[in-house]
Amino acid sequence: MVAPIILYGSPVLRKHSMELVEEDNVSEITKMLFDTLEKSEGIGLSGPQLSRLKRIFVIDTSPLLEDDITIERFKDVFINPLIIDRSTENEIYKEGCLSLPGIFEDVIRPKKILVRYHDMSFNIIEKELDGIKARIFQHEFDHLEGILFIDKINPLKLKLLYGKLNKIKKVAQKQHFFNTLT
Ligand code: CO
Repeated sequence: MVAPIILYGSPVLRKHSMELVEEDNVSEITKMLFDTLEKSEGIGLSGPQLSRLKRIFVIDTSPLLEDDITIERFKDVFINPLIIDRSTENEIYKEGCLSLPGIFEDVIRPKKILVRYHDMSFNIIEKELDGIKARIFQHEFDHLEGILFIDKINPLKLKLLYGKLNKIKKVAQKQHFFNTLT
């Protein structure tokens, strides 16, 4: 099932998400995340972006493979994720976000991370991620803390985005209005 993606301006995106427990319907929310991600041709999507304040996100690098054959296909779900360690070496990458359509800006983040999370059966997985995998993981992890990538860009560049951001906010207000009606 495809769900509407919550846009920038909605207070939901600024909230802290809650841990998932085994009693939660993990397969339902995972399916909804993957279905919505696939339809919107994105590479990562988190619970709060579908109005579910739960610590879960999905990643699928498939849309990137068409343009860059060196990128590895990486598709997985991450439940109650943690970043245990970060490399001191950083990397710049132009990020975008399904909640901020049309905005792409350079963001500096650690190049490598050590992560721990639950898989769908609540097994604990620990692994090192680098490159695009580390990049998407960190972006999605931020969503669970109410942080957006525009919080991490150069303040002067952010000022230049005010017009675009206000347009997205107006759409988000309408979205919120219709959500409260249904
Ligand atoms: Co995002």
